[in-house]
Order: sequence, then structure tokens, then C-alpha cells
Amino acid sequence: MQYREFGGTGIQLSRIGLGCFSMSGAYGAADDAESIATIHRAMERGVNLLDTSARYGGGHNHQLIGEAIKGRRDQIFIHSKTGTIRNKGDRSVAEGSGTPDRLRSICEQSLKNLGVDYLDAMCQSRVDPTVPIEESVGAVARLVEEGKVRFIGLSEAAPETVRRASAVHSLVSLQFEYSLWTRDVEQGHRQACEELEMALMAYAPLGYGFLAGVVDRAGAQSEDDIRGKFPRFSEENFETNREKVTQLESFAAEKQSTAAQICLAWLLAHNDNVFPIPGCKSRKHLDENLDAIEIVLTEDDLARLDRIFPKDAASGDRYPPGGMKRVNL
Ligand SMILES: NC(=O)c1ccc[n+]([C@@H]2O[C@H](COP(=O)([O-])OP(=O)(O)OC[C@H]3O[C@@H](n4cnc5c(N)ncnc54)[C@H](OP(=O)(O)O)[C@@H]3O)[C@@H](O)[C@H]2O)c1
Repeated sequence: MQYREFGGTGIQLSRIGLGCFSMSGAYGAADDAESIATIHRAMERGVNLLDTSARYGGGHNHQLIGEAIKGRRDQIFIHSKTGTIRNKGDRSVAEGSGTPDRLRSICEQSLKNLGVDYLDAMCQSRVDPTVPIEESVGAVARLVEEGKVRFIGLSEAAPETVRRASAVHSLVSLQFEYSLWTRDVEQGHRQACEELEMALMAYAPLGYGFLAGVVDRAGAQSEDDIRGKFPRFSEENFETNREKVTQLESFAAEKQSTAAQICLAWLLAHNDNVFPIPGCKSRKHLDENLDAIEIVLTEDDLARLDRIFPKDAASGDRYPPGGMKRVNL
């Protein structure tokens, strides 16, 4: 494993973290025993950065991680998001996700479910347009003073929001979708992170599995798979996107690697402050992903990948319309 300083913390974290979303059923059923074995294998292989959220599986993800790291709390950096409140029915994002009261109660609940005394980083999943960012970050800063949280992060925040928030309290990380087919962070977010000494956590680095080549037809594999609602997986966009993945697979084969590994190597070839957090729930996928650390891409390789995935190459938005309203705020 390779390590880099995470934000301006002085703490060395593994360049590849482990995203735990799919362990709580985001993309269909998961098996707790294999998920825990995957977390243990990750730790054995030197991973010390876990990404989770209070809302994944309605608290299941925190309980699972708590179980997996029992007796080993000091070996792991828990980057925990707050999740957002959703309206019943259409599941649209409700107002009030970023109020001081809600952030405090989510923190308390997270600590309880994880069975730990502090979160290494507490990260607001989405900026709440109804609460000034200064107020939300100020509330988490009070949790830092109380020792319940060590560092503060934001997710899907625009560069200007990151700067405003940093004026209230230093931030450790910005989490943003970043992959070969989603390069929005190249519009100023990456630069803001460099300026402010923040880690840029690349979430969905495998395009929710699409870029890894595991999606072989439009829509989702099962009813309980959220990707069925993502435009890029739809009937309308599937073939165009799949064609790019076919080219990526040919490129990967030439490099004696897999499409998933090239996605990760491509991110690692960027600045040292980029930390991909691929999600997986099996040791097989984990091992494959961690082996990507050995792959070195040349300037020619990077140029070729740019030709396969020029900016805005993906067909379809990354989220349905309701979700798009809540990103990059
Ligand atoms: N801030 C946010 O709004 C936000 C949003 C989404 C995600 N996240 C975080 O980012 C993490 C990563 O994103 P993600 O999990 O949504 O998407 P992702 O990492 O792009 O892709 C995950 C999918 O790829 C599959 N996969 C993983 N490794 C593979 C491999 N080597 N070969 C083939 N398939 C492979 C996984 O299958 P298995 O699960 O079956 O292994 C899963 O279906 C999440 O776990 C979560 O912690 C944050």
C-alpha cells in the first residue's frame, strides 16, 4: 500500500480507501459475513481509510463497521457522512439536512451505531440550500471542540462553498464523484482542494460498477438496486456508454489489467491529494482494486484514456433530475 498525508492533518492514509455503501444493499443484497471479511482483508492489506454514512442501510453500515473494527479502532480512519433527510413518497431531499440540531443528533447516532467515541471525519453529504454553510460547519466545529469529531469534510460542494466553509473552520476533505466519465471536479474543485490543503475523495471511481464492466444490460439487475434510476444506466444511454467501456477493456487487456484497475490507476496518476474510495463487498473485488496501486500509466496512456473518455463523454446525467439539483452546491 502507498500512503499520503490526508488533507493538512499530518495523518498518513492509504491512497485507496474502502467505500462501504454496497455492503448495506445499495446495489442489491449483501452478505454481512463477507462484508466484514472484506473490511478485515482491507485492513490486512494496509487500508486505513473507510468511507461510510449514517444513512447507508438506515444505520446498518455503521453497525457493520463497528463490528468489523472492534478492538482495532486506532487502526482505522472513519470518514462518516451525515446522509440527507428524505421526504416520504418521492424520496426527494427534504429541507433541514444541515441544521445544527440535525447535525448534532446524526453525530450522536453515528457514534452509538459505530460503538466509538469519536468520528475521524464528519462530512455533510449534501450542502443544504436552506441553511448557510457557515451555520452547518460552525455546528460541526462545536462537535470538534467537544472531541466527538476530529476533522470536517464536505461532499458535492462547489468551490465557492468550500472556500466559505473553510473560513469558519479548516476542512480536511471534499468528497465528489470523480472518474473517467465524471470529471466535474476539474472545473475548480481540485484546485480549491490543493489551495486549502484538502484531500479530494473520488467517490464512485468505477462509475457505480459500469466502468468496471459488470453491468451488461440497461437498467438495474434487481428492484432494490438504486442504479436502476440512474440515467447513464438507462435503455436510452446504455449502448453509447457501454461502447466506451469496451474500448477501456481493450486498453486494460493490453496493460494486463482490468477496467476497474485502470479506472483507479487513472485517478492515482493525478495529484497526491486524490484518494479514490472504490466500493465493494467482496474480497475478490477488493484484491483486484488494491492491486491497481502497482499500475503506472504513462503520458501516452493518459492521452489515450482522454481520447476514449473526453470530458462530458458520458451519455446521460449522473443522477436523476432530483439528485442533480442537490450536487455541486
Ligand atoms: N458522497 C456521496 O454522495 C457518495 C455517493 C456514492 C458513493 N459514495 C461513497 O463512495 C464509495 C464508492 O462509490 P460506489 O460504491 O457507489 O461506486 P463505485 O466504487 O464506482 O462502484 C461500486 C460497484 O462496483 C463494483 N465493483 C467494485 N470493484 C469491482 C471490480 N474490481 N470489478 C468489478 N466490479 C467491481 C461493486 O460491486 P460489489 O459491491 O459487488 O463488490 C459495486 O457494484 C461508496 O461505497 C461510498 O462510500 C459517496
